[in-house]
Amino acid sequence: MHSLSLLLLSFCLPLPTLEASRWCYDSQAISCGPITWKNDYPVCGLNKQSPINIVTKKAKLDRSLPPIIFKGYDRVATEQNWQISNNGHTVTVKLNGDIAIEGGNLPNTYKAVQFHYHWGTVSNPGSEHTIDGEQYPMEMHLVHHNEKYDSFEDAVKNADGVAVLGFLFEESTKNNEEMNVLIDALQLVSNPGNTSSLKPFALNRIIPDHEKLKKYYCYHGSLTTPACQESVIWIVFPEPIPINKAQLDEFSNRLFFDDSQPMTLNFRPVQKLNGRPVYVSDSAVRLFNVAWLSVILAVLTSM
Ligand SMILES: *[C@@H]1O[C@H](CO)[C@@H](O)[C@H](O)[C@H]1NC(C)=O
Ligand SMILES: [Zn+2]
Repeated sequence: MHSLSLLLLSFCLPLPTLEASRWCYDSQAISCGPITWKNDYPVCGLNKQSPINIVTKKAKLDRSLPPIIFKGYDRVATEQNWQISNNGHTVTVKLNGDIAIEGGNLPNTYKAVQFHYHWGTVSNPGSEHTIDGEQYPMEMHLVHHNEKYDSFEDAVKNADGVAVLGFLFEESTKNNEEMNVLIDALQLVSNPGNTSSLKPFALNRIIPDHEKLKKYYCYHGSLTTPACQESVIWIVFPEPIPINKAQLDEFSNRLFFDDSQPMTLNFRPVQKLNGRPVYVSDSAVRLFNVAWLSVILAVLTSM
């Protein structure tokens, strides 16, 4: 009897889950844009949110921060195809294979799950993180989860669950040929819900040389889309990825939101830092060690 009345009651209630899934960007409708997310997803209104503006002058230099170690980034890590899809908010590539990161301030190995992009319009920038107030044309997020959790869904419930690498793009006169594998596939996933298979490639092809990734900013923040869980160790690289304007425009020309509006300006505005420290690695840390090593060697050999 009691459980029956509960059952009946639940049928009489409005459908909060259906409503809750209707979040969007301001370019779609102000009424479901980022400032409204916290109504349905309260965590979006907490105080460790992402993205942020990185004020380089205020970043704390941490000489003990080692470079990120990229595992399985240098080869085609699987025979199984990846899956590219339009999820209504971005284009995302679900990864297979043994791809992971370690090092930095990471407490464990983090397995690569997917990557996706945030961009603007043909005339406006669209990165999520900004550096000293500058917004870049586009930003790639390479999402990893702590391997001690079985799935991304489990990981995202924990403060040490997720690590995201953020890469900023800069306009270049030359084509970035390596991006074409991805750009050519955009037309296959024009509309939300469309998926297609993508032949795996070495992820190193679409990021800068590791040598240039020794300098990075890191801080603790959140997913930049609802439910905005505060489970992310953010690692943002200032070394930009070059991309030609025509290549960049393919993102806003080929992809569409639900309402067949061009998919544009799919970034969340920067959030308050609220006193969180932002650390910067020392790009010269290895040079420094090498210098000391050679001094020691010189002393030893002179004895
Ligand atoms: C892509 O999605 C649209 C809208 O749902 C659908 O009409 C179309 O058939 C899909 N195309 C492919 C290739 O799946
Ligand atoms: Zn993202």
